[in-house]
Amino acid sequence: MKAKLALLPGDGIGPEVTGAAAEVLRAVARRFGHDFSFAAARVGGDALDHDGSPLPEQTLALCLGADAVLLGAVGGPKWAGATPGPEAGLLELRRRLGVFANLRPARVMDELADRTPFRPGHVRGVDILIVRELTGGVYFGRPRGRDGDRAFDTMSYTADEVARVARVAFALARKRRGRVTSVDKANVLESSRLWRQVVSRVAEDFAGVELRHMLVDSAALALVQNPREFDVLLTENLFGDILSDQAAALAGGLGVLPSAAVGGPGPGLFEPVHGSAPDIAGRGIANPVGAILSAAMLCEHGLGLAAEAAAIAAAVSRALGAGVHTADLGAAGAVGTAAFTKHVVSALA
Ligand code: NAD
Ligand code: IPM
Ligand code: MN
Repeated sequence: MKAKLALLPGDGIGPEVTGAAAEVLRAVARRFGHDFSFAAARVGGDALDHDGSPLPEQTLALCLGADAVLLGAVGGPKWAGATPGPEAGLLELRRRLGVFANLRPARVMDELADRTPFRPGHVRGVDILIVRELTGGVYFGRPRGRDGDRAFDTMSYTADEVARVARVAFALARKRRGRVTSVDKANVLESSRLWRQVVSRVAEDFAGVELRHMLVDSAALALVQNPREFDVLLTENLFGDILSDQAAALAGGLGVLPSAAVGGPGPGLFEPVHGSAPDIAGRGIANPVGAILSAAMLCEHGLGLAAEAAAIAAAVSRALGAGVHTADLGAAGAVGTAAFTKHVVSALA
């Protein structure tokens, strides 16, 4: 297959982890006989510095013309207080691509079950798919702003926005263990009461998938107390942002979680769940697993290459199983980003 991939390294550790993921994609192309071409563009703080905008027109054009987009991370202390900031570029990119469904799998790899703050028996076998609504809610609601010493944001959803992401979650649950937990704050928020109604209505079209509703505070507790209760966790934008970082703690940390943003008319956007990690940027020690597994999701959800995605996941497991890992997964015996990636690439070949 021939595929045009847009590469947006971004800020902080973004270039380090997307470099690793691109290397793995090149290895996949060699092994499976594909022709992947890569074109890079600036986003976030890097783009602000060079082009004066966190999402320059040429970056957006490159993405819209690509078959899939792989992004590292944006933001950092250098741009604190900038308006617009680097993060605005990422939000605008998601909006312009129309990628309203963000799939964030939090799966505990056997190789990492003893690398979390939890007892291994508590997290072993955990396999959660967070489906986060990505282009609505308080991130995008209007009005927002300042009025003297008052600041305000708007949490807003339409029934259509809820229904389309709910359908994605139910369709995926059908291929998994058939259980959707919809997370909201319907005891307080009107937008959550609409969310709950619409999700219940969508559930009627998916016989065989079980739906339960949960309030976000108790979901936060259950996620760490009974993580195996969850199959697909469907939620709105802000709750999904918070709960996915929390779920990362079950799986071995923020460095290992990938994501896929899909549902738009054009290419999907694939990015690790973590940010630019300014505290470790530029040192060659970032964990590239989240980015590499995002490249696997790019193969599966962006290009329809499921075997290639499975091969990448297997290669990552193989490297971790051999005890090769970066420092965030344990200081003893840790290797750098490049050495870890090399192991994944040779496991692929
Ligand atoms: P962060 O995710 O960048 O880092 C949180 C902690 O996790 C840090 O200690 C960091 O060192 C560690 N960490 C994260 N990824 C890692 C990796 N791959 N390997 C090893 N350790 C890793 O969150 P933050 O510090 O709150 O945010 C920093 C900046 O990143 C902010 O500007 C924020 O807006 C931005 N951010 C961007 C994205 C994105 O681009 N998708 C996501 C989250 C945060
Ligand atoms: C994420 C990040 C972004 C978000 C920020 C950087 C805008 O935290 O992708 O999880 O909140 O969506
Ligand atoms: Mn986040």
